[in-house]
Amino acid sequence: MSERIKVLISEEDVDARISEIGAQISRDYAGKEVHLICVLKGGSFFMCELAKRITVPVSLDFMYVSSYGAGTESSGRIRIKKDLDEPVQGRDVLVVEDIVDSGRTLSCLLELLEERRPASLRLCTLLDKPERRVTDVKVDYTGFRIPDAFVVGYGLDYDQKYRNLPYIGVVEFDD
Ligand code: IMP
Ligand code: MG
Repeated sequence: MSERIKVLISEEDVDARISEIGAQISRDYAGKEVHLICVLKGGSFFMCELAKRITVPVSLDFMYVSSYGAGTESSGRIRIKKDLDEPVQGRDVLVVEDIVDSGRTLSCLLELLEERRPASLRLCTLLDKPERRVTDVKVDYTGFRIPDAFVVGYGLDYDQKYRNLPYIGVVEFDD
């Protein structure tokens, strides 16, 4: 089976939306510091672009949890492959994710982080596929709501490929 990529959201539109979210976050966290937690690997491209547009002091940490294998369906469980380097207790934490799909990964992750007693805990995602939700997740900042299609680019992969595309594309499979 081979695949083709069709542009869904252009590089210009993604960049413009990230600027808007960065400005919103800067207003919402005025007078505070925001501690960004990037969910690897997918969240990394979005987090870098977002962090550059936030004007309040920013610190960063990274977490790697697995949910997807080589296919396109969620396993329903998460495994911590890399934990945070620093404690989050008392900090204003903003989790930065590439996409919320079923919501299983994020609901597990947010629950786990909540137990570590941050001062506040919010979620920012570049993409949201609300139709696919099976678990309730409160998303505080959303880049784009998209239909139920498998997408790549801007950090998102299909079988570890296409993360470096500067736009969001839909994967179309030929059979
Ligand atoms: P969830 O647990 O089903 O919400 O899935 C979360 C994770 O699945 C995301 O962080 C992505 O890594 C991956 N994922 C979900 N949908 C897509 C997609 O359309 N393209 C690429 N990865 C996806
Ligand atoms: Mg992810």
